[in-house]
Amino acid sequence: MSVEIRPATAADLKAILDIDPVAEVEERRHDYVSLAMRGHHSRDVRVLIIDEELVGYAIMGEFFGHPFLERIVTAEPHRRRGVAAALMANIEVGIDGDRLFVSTNESNETMRELLVKRGYRVSGMVENLDPGDPELFFVIFKSVIDAQVEPAP
Ligand SMILES: CC(C)(COP(=O)(O)OP(=O)(O)OC[C@H]1O[C@@H](n2cnc3c(N)ncnc32)[C@H](O)[C@@H]1OP(=O)(O)O)[C@@H](O)C(=O)NCCC(=O)NCCS
Repeated sequence: MSVEIRPATAADLKAILDIDPVAEVEERRHDYVSLAMRGHHSRDVRVLIIDEELVGYAIMGEFFGHPFLERIVTAEPHRRRGVAAALMANIEVGIDGDRLFVSTNESNETMRELLVKRGYRVSGMVENLDPGDPELFFVIFKSVIDAQVEPAP
């Protein structure tokens, strides 16, 4: 089995939209991903490929000058096998700055579990984005990330 994490290319767009349940119903998502892949607003998109199949993607952006994970998705049949964890580990070790922010709807218990497990802590809440489902912001500091990275033998 081969596993690769790399920057997305234009050729990945269809596969990215195929694995994202929101993308199917939101035309705007197409433009968002496609612009992000071209570096719009300093975003970058990376993908996780297993045996030539795109099974996960993540979009990095900026939040008040800090790195911000805007979106992360694992293809449904590949969930709970460490795909998102691998993408996040890849992002975390490469952040340019001393902290990384990420947000998710309060109702997204899966994402909240993932973040807490990785050592993120709640940094605040914003109402009035999705009605009745506040956006929870999380942060992890570089010192926490570094402490979690195992030293090379
Ligand atoms: C959230 C999401 C990206 C997780 O992807 P994943 O590849 O399945 O996650 P991983 O296998 O790396 O899981 C890492 C940890 O997250 C937590 N987790 C993942 N799925 C979970 C679930 N269904 N229930 C509870 N905890 C879960 C666990 O702590 C897990 O570690 P463990 O398996 O050792 O217990 C995926 O469910 C998804 O694509 N959801 C739809 C899009 C979305 O909501 N994205 C987040 C907001 S942008």
